[in-house]
Amino acid sequence: MKTPIVDFVREYAKKNSVRLHMPGHKGISRLGFEVFDITEIEDADVLYSPDGIILESENNASRLFGTAHSYYSTEGSTLCIKAMLAIATADRGGDRPLVLATRNSHKAFIYAAALLDLEIEWLYPSEPSHLCTCNITPNELEIALEKSEKKPDAVYVTSPDYLGNILDIKGLAQVCHAHGIPLLVDNAHGAYLQFLDKSMHPIALGADMCCDSAHKTLPVLTGGAYLHISKRANVDYCQIAREKLSLFASTSPSYLILQSLDLCNSYICDGYGEKLSALCERLSSLKERLSSKGFCICGSEPLKIVVDASKSGLSGKSLSKYLSTRGIEIEFSDRDFAVMMFTPENSEDDISRVEDALLCFDISGESNSTLGDTKLCTLHSALCTPEVAMSIRDAIFSRSELIPTEDAEGRICAAPCVSCPPAIPVVVSGEIIGREQVKLLKYYEIEKILVVK
Ligand SMILES: Cc1ncc(COP(=O)(O)O)c(C=O)c1O
Repeated sequence: MKTPIVDFVREYAKKNSVRLHMPGHKGISRLGFEVFDITEIEDADVLYSPDGIILESENNASRLFGTAHSYYSTEGSTLCIKAMLAIATADRGGDRPLVLATRNSHKAFIYAAALLDLEIEWLYPSEPSHLCTCNITPNELEIALEKSEKKPDAVYVTSPDYLGNILDIKGLAQVCHAHGIPLLVDNAHGAYLQFLDKSMHPIALGADMCCDSAHKTLPVLTGGAYLHISKRANVDYCQIAREKLSLFASTSPSYLILQSLDLCNSYICDGYGEKLSALCERLSSLKERLSSKGFCICGSEPLKIVVDASKSGLSGKSLSKYLSTRGIEIEFSDRDFAVMMFTPENSEDDISRVEDALLCFDISGESNSTLGDTKLCTLHSALCTPEVAMSIRDAIFSRSELIPTEDAEGRICAAPCVSCPPAIPVVVSGEIIGREQVKLLKYYEIEKILVVK
C-alpha cells in the first residue's frame, strides 16, 4: 500500500530547501527527527480540508477498516471522542442532547459533555467491581432505553475497557438500531481488533462511530488516532465530521504523527494479520500457564494480560514493582489489577522474559492489601446512586477550589480529578460527594479533589 505522506515528506527533506516556514527548528536535528517535522506547506495538504496526500492516506485507512471514512487525529482519541459526540448530537435546535453512557467513561467524555452541554444518563453495571469496568448487556441496555423518559440522541460505551473486557457490541448495536439511536464506541484500546482472523472491531460489529487510539495498539507515535464512521451510519455524519474535529483540534497537526499513521497502513498490509494471529495464540497459551500457576487472569481482550491481583491474593502494585526489578514495565497497576499490553512489536524474547518472571513469582508469599471483594463492591455500588446537584457543564465551569479528599463529603464535585491511566472518574462533575465516595476516592489514592466553591 502506498504511503503518500511519508513519501512527500522524505522528498521534501531531500531537497534541503531553505525553510522559511514553521516549525522554528527549521529541520535542524537536535532530537533526531526534526527534518521530517513539517507543517501544512504547499502540497502537504491540510488535515481538516484535505484533497491531496492526507485524503489519499485516509482513504487507504478507510479501506483497511471498512469504513465510510476514517479520519486522522494527531491529538489522540481525546479529540475523536469530542468530535464524535458533537457529530451525533448536531442539529438539536436548542434542546440539550441526551446521551446514555456507561459509567466507566474516560474523562475525555466528561469534558465533551461539559463543552457540548450534554445531559448524561449513566448506565451502571449489574455487579459493580472496579472503576474501569461496566459490563452492560444488550438486555440491560434495552431495559434502560425503555425506562428513559426522553429518547436519547446516542448510546456511548467503552469497549474494550482498561481491564480487557469486551462488550457485546453486535447485540448492543442491534438494540440501539431497533430504537433508531446511534451506537458510539470508545474503542481507544482496540484498533487492532479489525485485523484478527475474524474482525471484532466495533465498526464491523455494527457501531455507527468509534474512536481508536492507533498509538495504543498499533506501531504509531503517541497521539495518532482514528475517528471511524460506519458505512451504515447517518450520511450527514461524514458531511460534518471535519468541521466538528476542527472545533476542538489544534490548527497545527503533527506531521510526524501523520506520517506514522500513513506508514501504519502499509505495515498492516505487510503481514500484520499473520503476526497478530501468532501473537494471540502465544498469549493465550501463556495465560493458561499463568492460570495454572495460580494467577487469576481476567478480561477477554487477546493482546492484554490482566491479572486480577486481589483474586490472586496479591497486590497489583507489588506485582508491577516486582516486574520492574526484572526490567519489565507494565501499562497499569493499582491495588487490584496489573495490566500488561502486548503487540507484535514485542519480540519472543520479551514474552519469554515476562513468562519467566511471572512463573518465578512467589504468589504464596504475597498478602492481599485490598479491602476484600464484598466491601469494595459495596463502595462501588454507592457510585450507582449519585446525587446530582448541577449539570456537568455548570460544575466544570463553576468557581472551584482544590481541597483534601477527606474534607469533601457533602461538597459538589467540580472536575474529575483523575490522571491517566486510567482517567476514569470516581465522582462525576456536578455530583454530591458522599461518605462512600470519599472512601472510594481514598481507596484509589485520590488525595485532593476540585469542588464547587
Ligand atoms: C478508554 C480510553 N478512552 C480514551 C482515552 C484517550 O485516548 P488518547 O490518549 O488517545 O487521547 C484513553 C486513554 O488512555 C482510554 O484509556
